[in-house]
This record gives sequence, structure tokens and C-alpha cells, in this order.
Amino acid sequence: MADNFTSLQIENRVFKPAKDFSARAHIKSFAQYKKLYNESIKSPDKFWAREAKNELVWFKPWKKVLDWKPPFAKWFVGGQLNVSHNCLDKWLGTATANKAAIIWEGEPAAPGKPGEERTLTYKQLHHEVCLFANVLKKHGIKKGDRILIYLPMVVEAAVAMLACTRIGAVHSVVFGGFSAQSVADRVFDSQAKMIITADGGFRRGAVVPLKKNVDDAFPLNDAHGNPLTKTIEKVIVLRRAGNEVTFQPGRDLWWHEEVATVDAKCPAEKMDSEAPLFILYTSGSTGKPKGILHTTAGYLLGAKMTSKYVFDLRDEDVYWCTADIGWVTGHSYVVYGPLANGATSLMYEGAPNFPEPDRFWRIIAKYGVTILYTAPTAIRAFMKWGDQWPKKHDLSSLRLLGTVGEPINPEAWMWYHTVIGKKRCPIVDTWWQTETGGIMITPLPGATPTKPGTATLPFFGIVPEVVDDQGQAVPRNSGGKLVIRKPWPSMLRGLWGDEKRYKEVYWSEVPGSYFTGDGCRQDKDGYFWIVGRIDDVLNVAGHRIGTAEVESALVSNSKVAEAAVVGRPDALKGQALVAFVTLKTGITPNQAIRDELRNHVAKEIGPVAKPDDIRFAEALPKTRSGKIMRRLLKQVASGTEIKGDTTTLEDLNVLTKIGSADD
Ligand code: PRX
Repeated sequence: MADNFTSLQIENRVFKPAKDFSARAHIKSFAQYKKLYNESIKSPDKFWAREAKNELVWFKPWKKVLDWKPPFAKWFVGGQLNVSHNCLDKWLGTATANKAAIIWEGEPAAPGKPGEERTLTYKQLHHEVCLFANVLKKHGIKKGDRILIYLPMVVEAAVAMLACTRIGAVHSVVFGGFSAQSVADRVFDSQAKMIITADGGFRRGAVVPLKKNVDDAFPLNDAHGNPLTKTIEKVIVLRRAGNEVTFQPGRDLWWHEEVATVDAKCPAEKMDSEAPLFILYTSGSTGKPKGILHTTAGYLLGAKMTSKYVFDLRDEDVYWCTADIGWVTGHSYVVYGPLANGATSLMYEGAPNFPEPDRFWRIIAKYGVTILYTAPTAIRAFMKWGDQWPKKHDLSSLRLLGTVGEPINPEAWMWYHTVIGKKRCPIVDTWWQTETGGIMITPLPGATPTKPGTATLPFFGIVPEVVDDQGQAVPRNSGGKLVIRKPWPSMLRGLWGDEKRYKEVYWSEVPGSYFTGDGCRQDKDGYFWIVGRIDDVLNVAGHRIGTAEVESALVSNSKVAEAAVVGRPDALKGQALVAFVTLKTGITPNQAIRDELRNHVAKEIGPVAKPDDIRFAEALPKTRSGKIMRRLLKQVASGTEIKGDTTTLEDLNVLTKIGSADD
């Protein structure tokens, strides 16, 4: 496997773009990348004005490219456009109209069996979106109203998103793996008027009861006893899994019945460049998830340009991003980026290993997928499952591979390169975040020499820097905090309804710069090596989880007195969640309580946040000022020798009292 390199040998290897790839690529050489990059930094107004004009269809031109009153940015001020128009109407009357916009594969029933299939051309997708947009209008949804989308990976998820953008409603997609409580919290924070859901979704042969979770969200109250979901007027339910659901008359409506009542004529609303487009909740280091706000023009430009240049999209590509639309990757690189480019985007409903671990390779061979964009966690799982699964299938259609979500270890990179890419396909390791809207640090496949484990260099217009605690740039090869020095079009515009927190979280750590929360180092060639989060956010299997959120879920259980959650390295998931818990006096720890607490977290947040390990302690190690000593807990969690100053520990003994995983 992977030529038997050690990590260090791999890190020092450089892979130059192949000549025949570069010859056909949008950006054909490193010199061309450098020239465009320098222009984008030196004359940003000129650069972005040209790109916005070339890439997007405008109803009304903008007056000013950027209005920057730190930390608030407005891009393409005064302009008007519509996202759904740019993704759909733009292609009507061209050859793209009859091209597959979305190829969908449902979860298969049994080994060797294909899943259900559905293909929608741009023309058909436009039709579906117009119909559903009219359903939204029929129920009183207007520009600026918020709509929660809680759907499985089905075509209707993209239809619902695009329908919102068509009439100027603001969508907030909630990952199908999140709980009723998470649905209720997000409805409350966004004050949404409508929920779009399904009876259920399929996952590894089981039905995820989405509608039931929505029903369970309705009785949940805030601290004052008011229902969290009181703003919801209608729930539209897609028939997907066929499971039984209960309906509240007057509130709940079937998708298929509603679309039968409207026509398909629905002009796209003229939206201001800065009109809110979507809110996506993501975990931070404190409190409940934050509503990241993205707006219309800048976001779309970022999603479109990065899709085009990073994935080097060509007309004949079958492009597959495996992310769920519940995450930002699904927004930018399953829906908006590819459709704005007139590309064919593949959507898969199920898991990579159901019913067998060759699911991905089977799909690639079946549809002739040319570009695959997935997460390091998935790649490590494929490595573990063995080479025999990809080897069973013809992967020769692939021409480009991508990764996102967490640092990719060089061994996984080499496996991807060798076993999947057959040493032919460039790999783009793309660093970005929910907040950044689009890819920020990445190779361009025809231009940038790659090294396994680094996302390499910034995309056009992006100015990242690695800095010390004072905000000063650190020398090459020293670690520091990753910041972004200048605004960029697809940056978040704020946190929904919380200007103060927006300033605090992103703009106060290093004044004047956007703080990413990631640690990083630049090597001698200026390549950025992302180390991972340096705040209290964990990256578990590419999912972002706030330790504070899991802690508050744990202490909301009546048996728990105190909890601290830290990460430990995990060979498969990148990081695993370890919870240190003290129980209330008189309660004796045992396996049943451990199981109860794990399920409690799943109920409060979702199964993705379940601690991998719960360790009981009589007390948690604290400094004299009462702060939990997380550094120590991290060392205990990962089984490393305890280092550093422990003299401020209030009670050194507590460390010895922490129980192991098998209490
Ligand atoms: O720590 C970085 C990691 O994922 C975080 C962002 O998570 P989220 O907002 O959920 O978005 C994930 C998909 C864009 C970052 O702060 N991360 C993302 N991509 C990479 C990465 N770490 C290293 N290398 C990457 N390519």
C-alpha cells in the first residue's frame, strides 16, 4: 500500500500537475495562477468587478464592488440578481437545458443492487423549482422569511433550497442526523415560518423518522415555558420512506398534493446583492450553534468560481461531491457551485458502506464519475475496509479527486492517489469553513504542485497569514493561528441576530483580521499546513462539534453534576469525543449510566455528538480560579504522559480518581 512511505518521506514529496491535465485546465500553469492571484490582491476591485460581470447574470449592475466597514462587508452594492436564475434560467435556451443537472441515486436495498435512480435535466429542475416556489408563495412565504429544510439527500432537498432562493426566502438546512431539540432551537433562533421535511429518510437500511422528530420539536419550550417553534405556520412533508406519520390538520401538508395545486410559472425575484440567502448553524467554542449568515451575490460568486477553478469543471464532467446538503459543503459544492456552472452534479442518498463497502466505487463505475470530492474520514475508512472493494470496479473515468473537512494524513492522501486515482488524478485538498462560504486554500489542479497533507496556497483574492498571539506574522515553519487579512466576497456577513458575538468570535482574537479558529504552519514554499482547531471545537469525522454544546447536553441530565469534554486523536475519525463526568452525590457510576448519557446527548444534539468515551470522576481538575484544566484532561484522554505545570491544580488527587473507559 502507498509505496511504503513513512509520513516524513511522503510530506517531502512534490507532485507536479501532469502536462496533459494542465493543457486542458482552466488555469494551465503555476505562473498563470500567480499572475491572477497577484492581480486579485493588488487590484481587488478590478479583479472582482471583472469576475462578477463574467460569471453572474445581473438584473441590475452594482454601483460599488466593496463597502468595507470592518468587520462588516457589503459586496457589489446596489446590484440585483437571483441565485435560482443563475443556476437554472440562465441555461434555458442553451444546450445545457437538456443536460443532466442532478443525477440522483437512492440507497440500495441489497448487495449488488442499484439504488433507485432519478435524473433531472436543467429544464426539469427549473420546472420543479418553479412549482415548489409557487407552493411557498401560496402559503404566504415572502422575501426575507426563514424556512427550515430538514430533508434526506433527495432531489427535493435541492429543489426546496432553489425554490427559496427563487422567491427570496432564506433557507436554513438542518442535517437529517440532528435531533428534535436541534430543530426546535434552530426554528427559535431563526424565527422560521415553515419547515420542509419528509416522512423519513433511508440510512443503512433503517428509516430516519424525520417527520416524527419535527413533531417532537413542537412541545419543546424555552426557559420561560414558551414553545420554541411558535413561529411555524406550515410543515410541508415529502413522501419518501413510506413510513407512517401523524398529521396535524391545517398545519401539515403533503408536498405532492401541494405541487398539484399550483402552476409552473414563477419569475425569479430581483434580490439585492446583500439580501440574506441562507443561515447555516454551526458549532462554536461557546453556547449553542451559531447561525452563519450568507448573502446573495458574494456567496454565489465564490461558490461558482471555486467550483470552476478548483474542480476544473468541464462540460462533460460527472461531478460527485459526497457531502450531505445539511453541511456547507453540500450547499456550495452539491447545489449552488456546480449548478451555477451548468455542471452535472451527482447526489447519493445513502452511506458509503451500505449494503457493502464498495458503494462509492460502484456508483463511480455506473455513472462514469469524473470528479470525486469527499472527506479524509471516508478515505481512511475505505483504506481500512481494504483495496479489494475499489479494485472490483472500473474507476478509469475519474480524472480529479478532492478532499475537505479535516486535515488529510499523508498516508491517506497516498492511498487516495494510488488506489483510487491510479497515480493519474490530481488531488485537491481544500481548506475552508462554513463561515468562508467557499474554498479558501487549495491547489488548482492544472497549476499547483501538491504535497500530501497540505491544502497548499490561497485561492484568488484570499490573504491568509499565520500569526502569533500578538497578531504578528510568524516566520516560515513556525506554528501559529490562521487568520485572513482581507474581506472576500463569500465571507459570512454575520451571525443571525447576534452582532456582538460575530465581532467577538471572529474579529477580536486578532484585531482587524478574521480568526479562523485553526492552527497552521507555512512551509518553506509558503504552503499552508492546517493543524486543526485550536479553540474548543472538535472535528469528529469531519463534523464540527463544540465541546461546550456537548457539556451542556450532559449536564442537562439529572444525574450529572459536572462535565468536561475534550478530543483525543482517533485513527479513523481524526478526533474522538471524550467526556469526563462527575455524577451527583450518591449516584454510583456504571455502564447503564454511561449508555444513558450517550443516548441523552444523541437526543439533545444528534447521534453525531455522542461521546465515544465517558469517564467518570469524583471531581474535575480545576485551577484555583475554578477553570477546568482541559489541557490535562486532553492528556488523560489521549493517554499521554501528563506534562506541564500542575501547581495551580486545586486538587491534584482528582487526576488519579478519574475512571477508565471500562469502569
Ligand atoms: O478545522 C478546519 C477543518 O474544518 C473546519 C471547518 O469546519 P466546517 O465549518 O464544518 O466546514 C467543513 C467543510 C468546509 C476548519 O476550521 N477543515 C476543513 N477543511 C480542511 C480542514 N482542516 C484541514 N484541511 C482541510 N482541507
